[in-house]
Amino acid sequence: MRLVLLGPPGAGKGTQSARLVAKFGVPQLSTGDMLRSAAAAGTPIGREAKAIMDAGSLVPDDVVVGVIAQRIEAPDAEQGFILDGFPRTVAQARALGDMLAKKNLRLDAVVELAVDENALLARIEKRVAETLAAGGIVRADDNPESFKTRLEAYRAQTAPVSAYYAGKGELKQVDGMAPVDEVTSAIDRALCA
Ligand code: AP5
Repeated sequence: MRLVLLGPPGAGKGTQSARLVAKFGVPQLSTGDMLRSAAAAGTPIGREAKAIMDAGSLVPDDVVVGVIAQRIEAPDAEQGFILDGFPRTVAQARALGDMLAKKNLRLDAVVELAVDENALLARIEKRVAETLAAGGIVRADDNPESFKTRLEAYRAQTAPVSAYYAGKGELKQVDGMAPVDEVTSAIDRALCA
């Protein structure tokens, strides 16, 4: 299974990716997680990405495409992957298509979690509260100011990715406002359709 999950910040991509990983036995490739790990490790890519991510903007395409190009070559991604947070621009989507075409592969599905933007900040605030209650470290971009920038980046740069895949007849939309289990069932149905 080679699947892309699309949706704005807080739409539930990470939540549903974890369930798809368990179902299909392929890894979740979250560019956000990879970049946060690189930032925590202080690698050159991490150092370049950290300030951009903290502010809520998108990391440059060439950096993210390089990270994914390397990651999909790993043995655990041979049978497939769940892409969470990539592609986020049309240029990234085209680069992904080229990467797969070189390996005679294609995506099995592109699923978009459709959500009401007005509900997203509340989800992020809930995640912050839960993280603090568990004694964890809150993401540096989980604050109202960065969230506003994340949403603007989504509207300007990532929403066109949905249109790109819709134009190719590959986009499946699922109601991301339903409870988590119902979203999971809707994705299952979309993948069988
Ligand atoms: P990234 O880490 O990808 O963050 P994001 O897209 O902003 O998404 P989130 O992780 O906040 O949300 P999610 O959709 O995964 O929702 P979740 O399941 O956690 O990216 C961070 C940054 O990295 C970017 O801003 C950018 O700087 C950089 N970056 C990453 N990829 C890049 C790329 N390709 N190009 C350039 N830059 C890139 O759920 C959120 C909350 O809602 C949770 O509390 C959850 O429990 C709850 N929830 C989930 N589903 C439901 C539901 N159905 N009902 C109620 N609550 C729900």
